[in-house]
Amino acid sequence: MPVSFELSSTAPARVRTDLLALPVFAGRVLGPGADALGDGIVDFLAEAGFEGKPGEVLALPANDVAAKAVLVIGLGEQDNVTVDGLRLAAATLTRKASQHASFATTLLDAAPAELDRGDVAQAIAEGVILGGYQFLRYKGDGKAAKLRKVTVVRSGRENLQWALERGAVIGEAVTWARDMVNEPAADKSPAAFAAAAKKLLRGKGVTVEVLSGPQLAAAKLGGLIGVGQGSDQPPRFVKVTYSPRGAKGSLAFVGKGVVFDSGGLSLKPPGGMETMKTDMAGGAAVLAAMSTLADLGVETKVVGYVPMVENMPSGKAIRPGDVLTIRNGKTVEVLNTDAEGRLILADALSMASEAKPDGIVDLATLTGACLVALGDKYAGLMGNDDDWRGQVADAAERASEKVWALPLPTEYRKQLESEIADLKNIGTSYGGALTAGLFLQEFVADVPWAHLDIAGPARAGSDDGYNPRGGTGFGVRTLVELAEGFQAS
Ligand code: BES
Ligand code: MN
Ligand code: ZN
Repeated sequence: MPVSFELSSTAPARVRTDLLALPVFAGRVLGPGADALGDGIVDFLAEAGFEGKPGEVLALPANDVAAKAVLVIGLGEQDNVTVDGLRLAAATLTRKASQHASFATTLLDAAPAELDRGDVAQAIAEGVILGGYQFLRYKGDGKAAKLRKVTVVRSGRENLQWALERGAVIGEAVTWARDMVNEPAADKSPAAFAAAAKKLLRGKGVTVEVLSGPQLAAAKLGGLIGVGQGSDQPPRFVKVTYSPRGAKGSLAFVGKGVVFDSGGLSLKPPGGMETMKTDMAGGAAVLAAMSTLADLGVETKVVGYVPMVENMPSGKAIRPGDVLTIRNGKTVEVLNTDAEGRLILADALSMASEAKPDGIVDLATLTGACLVALGDKYAGLMGNDDDWRGQVADAAERASEKVWALPLPTEYRKQLESEIADLKNIGTSYGGALTAGLFLQEFVADVPWAHLDIAGPARAGSDDGYNPRGGTGFGVRTLVELAEGFQAS
């Protein structure tokens, strides 16, 4: 059940709520409202060993307050509090409050004056939803959170309800992407994934087209058809169009939607398959972002392209050495059927390029090599246009998602030369994230394009801040920021 957000200018001690959460900075400097805890509070915190470090929490007796329980939460050095730090604090206390029906907090007023209040309110709402996320569908003994209402208490009467609502819209979208990633592959065939996308996007101010069967061949999606032919679950291609009246500029979002990646005949070892239901995370992020654009009043046209397919070995599967013809007419010798993402993205990028948008960005769990290079928290960012790549990096920065630029070295392009076709789908064993990027570049016609390899951050191996273990929904917030902040030149 979704959480609702409200603002209040009641004195914190008088707010009627189950749990009152008050910030304390490093060195036990009391944050807004914490003085209501009485004179001895600083000594009490010292005695309890509470220092005010980020993420520290301590339950206190609810003396002299209207709330049923009280919690203090550490925020670290007062001057160093960031938007993301507040998002994280909101997530932490949401988890602490999960067995309460409501909590109230003064976190908003703990932000340094130079931070934008709207950004902070939005981040608090995002933190509540992201931190409180649970995936209990398959748990017999799952303990669902009871939280229904969050009150943001602030001095003054400034109306930031809109910012809380934006945070809720974005948080819920991330949640949808996480749910899709966490769903076992058996329950998210391409058909089911496409149906889930349609359901998500109904009433969201977008049009949705789903191509299947002969429509895929008619659209010349040779990469998607080739990768899909080994599976009993046939592929889908989902195109989502958001076209606001008087749109200023246009963007394309492309997402890899491999619902399960066994590697195909170039079969992965068992361990390598364990998390391969995650291989549609880029596609889920694109669809989730598309679902927010109308609600957020985005003024740019955005088209989302998500090829959906299962990569399986079978008597019908594509073989190493087979040649596929991609939508733009280029032929690819498939030497490794496990390099499948680039084949389906090739079709999607060709199609996206034809519409000549002002910028294309793709998100894909594309290479293990990117994980080796950057670890599991950073996405690799590549592209053919410095300005556009910079805009994507800036959007990620505003969204507090971590990306790091990688090169697309022309010297490595010759690794992709094929004996018999225009290209082959793998390079040497080194620099795999870069050769994958170079491969994709071949299918982008003269349009600014950026590629995010999200093989690492699409999944959290263990609980990490506001990302609980499992699918993270990485990229949704960056895409939303990108669409919102886009200025056509
Ligand atoms: N989906 C994988 C990439 C991946 C690996 C994502 C590990 C997340 C974690 C992709 O389809 C793949 O198998 N890539 C191969 C490419 C290789 C065959 C050139 C890889 O990275 O090993
Ligand atoms: Mn693969
Ligand atoms: Zn894959």
